[in-house]
Amino acid sequence: MNLVLFGPPGSGKGTQSLLLAERRGFMHLSTGEALRAAVKARTRAGIEAQAIMERGELVPDDVVTRILADFVGEYRRKTQRFLFDGYPRTVPQVFLLDKLLADYKLASPYLLCIDVPEETLLPRLTGRRICVKCKAMYNIHFSPSKVEGVCDVCGGHTQQRNDDREETIRERLRVYREQCLPVMEEYRQRGRLQTVSGVGTMEEVFTRVDTAITAVPD
Ligand code: AP5
Ligand code: MG
Repeated sequence: MNLVLFGPPGSGKGTQSLLLAERRGFMHLSTGEALRAAVKARTRAGIEAQAIMERGELVPDDVVTRILADFVGEYRRKTQRFLFDGYPRTVPQVFLLDKLLADYKLASPYLLCIDVPEETLLPRLTGRRICVKCKAMYNIHFSPSKVEGVCDVCGGHTQQRNDDREETIRERLRVYREQCLPVMEEYRQRGRLQTVSGVGTMEEVFTRVDTAITAVPD
């Protein structure tokens, strides 16, 4: 089964993806993470994406699809369980993903939407901190590191994402409502949409996610 995790910024896509990869063996790609790595490495895609991401807008479909195609091409023989976190995010990307999976004779994906009300998202995003070394994730409000600014796992330095400033978060939420929500509608019409509530502890949300995907035929 191939799965798309969908939901607004801060809904917990990254958190739940890591749990699904660890516990259910999915091969996970976060297009946001891949783009941030490209920005850091100063690749062509990264240079093109940097300012767009800092404004909270969407990176052009062709740039992000190339990253996805490279990933699927690399791992297609090693897994039957891809997990795409943050792709597709526009209706053209829905069809680009269909084509890519069909070209490799891979199964059409299900879309799992993590539903969280907007007022819950802001503290999750403004409070998020990430270890620069091992990428462990913390939240100063809900799950802080033991020592402020220091990663519990590797002792690295934790920092805020460039797009987690309040003004940029509001723009990301606007973009989600206007450009991303039609993606959900497309999967609803195909009968390949599941929605779970993302409110509650990370483990409570994982139980819902896991139950929802177990109910989906392979
Ligand atoms: P991306 O990195 O995907 O960002 P996003 O969609 O805005 O989502 P986030 O990563 O901010 O949130 P999340 O849902 O993963 O939540 P998380 O688990 O971290 O994309 C960034 C940018 O890249 C985009 O804006 C765009 O520019 C570009 N991009 C990426 N893909 C693209 C595409 N396909 N097309 C075009 N452009 C693209 O959780 C958030 C916080 O909440 C954390 O602190 C976490 O610890 C906490 N938390 C999680 N779950 C819970 C819980 N149950 N209770 C309490 N706290 C929780
Ligand atoms: Mg994420």
